[in-house]
Amino acid sequence: MTTRLEPDALLLVLGPRPGRDVGRWLGDGLRAAVVDGRLEAGTVLPSGRDAAAALGVSRGTVMAAVDVLVGEGLLVSRPRSGVVVASLPAPDRTARAVTRAAPGGAAAPRGVSVGTPDPALFPRAAWARAVRDGVRGLADAELGYPDPQGLPALREALAVHLRRARGARVTASDVVVVSGVAQGLALLARLLATGRVAPSPGTRGGPAPGEPVRVAVEDPSSRGALDLLHDAGLRTAGVPVDADGLRADLLPDDARAALVTPAHQFPLGVVLAPARRRALLAWAAAGDRLVLEDDYDAELRYDRRPVASVQALDPERVVLLGSVSKLLSPALRLGWVVAPPRVVGPLVEAKRRADLGTSVPEQAALAALLGSGAYQRHLRRARLVYLRRRRALLDALATALPGVRVGGVAAGLHLVVPVPGAAAEAAAVAGLRAAGVPAEPLGGTSSSLAGHGVVVGTARVREGDVPGVVQVLRTACLTPGEELVR
Ligand SMILES: Cc1ncc(COP(=O)(O)O)c(C=O)c1O
Repeated sequence: MTTRLEPDALLLVLGPRPGRDVGRWLGDGLRAAVVDGRLEAGTVLPSGRDAAAALGVSRGTVMAAVDVLVGEGLLVSRPRSGVVVASLPAPDRTARAVTRAAPGGAAAPRGVSVGTPDPALFPRAAWARAVRDGVRGLADAELGYPDPQGLPALREALAVHLRRARGARVTASDVVVVSGVAQGLALLARLLATGRVAPSPGTRGGPAPGEPVRVAVEDPSSRGALDLLHDAGLRTAGVPVDADGLRADLLPDDARAALVTPAHQFPLGVVLAPARRRALLAWAAAGDRLVLEDDYDAELRYDRRPVASVQALDPERVVLLGSVSKLLSPALRLGWVVAPPRVVGPLVEAKRRADLGTSVPEQAALAALLGSGAYQRHLRRARLVYLRRRRALLDALATALPGVRVGGVAAGLHLVVPVPGAAAEAAAVAGLRAAGVPAEPLGGTSSSLAGHGVVVGTARVREGDVPGVVQVLRTACLTPGEELVR
């Protein structure tokens, strides 16, 4: 499908127009966007006339800049389709992918997760103190290979935190420290695929020998999570999601486990209703199945206390996964799995085999951050900032697009904006990414969704960025999908 960059989105790509040297601003800005991948190969640029009008420059200035970039091989002029972004070898793009400032001061090249927090909020001073305090407190014996289950001080601090913040039923011995939810899921997937947890192939209740193990997943769901399950050799079965969350009545009999996001469904943002929670647990109990509860952003609820974890209702069958990726930073690669004893044993062994354990100084720092109250202080501050940004964006959207209903509860770092068709979806995603805002097509998260939408990462959209972001979405929504494709 052809992606066209809307004229208004050009301003977002280029940033504010300077008082002079506009030719250079235009040329350098376009070059940077092509090289770092914000403008994807094949994207059609607006016509010279439309671009000139949107940017407030002469058509001659636009054409001169375009000519230079065509000469450099970054743009291609095609007789009937117009000027198109050329395809570049991958290393050129990735090497320079972080050079251009975008909303919030950080670049958002292709592939940045929509759920990434604003790195400008990372509590550098508190983390530095926590590293110092944590490392000072380590015994010599703790500076050998790590306990693959996790540093005892961190497991203890996490158990206290998860009991308080998530209502989880957990003690330190139920916690396994992992490198993010992603690693926790990958390890659990391998255990499920090889029958080391839940009924194994050929046993009562298990799949026939040689049959791949099936796991029920929400549809739509995180593409990355699905990839992890498939990589482990599992087969997935999509179960639809509505306003009350997963349709638990449609969970398949032949699945050995279900991967769910009950506190804030990814990506639709709904909460699993109480009756659905009960139905999910009844399904799990009936077939001795596991529920994998991905609690990825549950602490970031803005309108009320987060709903408690499903794990609290059945700690024998629910495995709770979480991490610091949404609140602190995904760069830390620190997360946890809370699991029943029959899962903890194989999981710790799988963790040991995977990487011999997670970095001890990092674990000690997180334990210190939790123990000192700095984690909770950061949580309160981050919630306020993200709530303000989310409100500003939603208010502006409600004014610009009164007919568009953004679903989901006030939580997390992303929202889904419905758009009228596949072409509008592609145009909005391209425009937002070009402007440095993480965005994914909703279609990419589902195999069966009928509607179209854009999953927008909101964490780095500051109030000053809101008009530009809304303009991209408005243009996409108001343009009938078919007309975008020529
Ligand atoms: C729904 C969901 N689950 C899990 C993850 C993985 O998170 P982690 O960084 O903890 O591995 C992500 C990351 O974006 C996510 O969006």
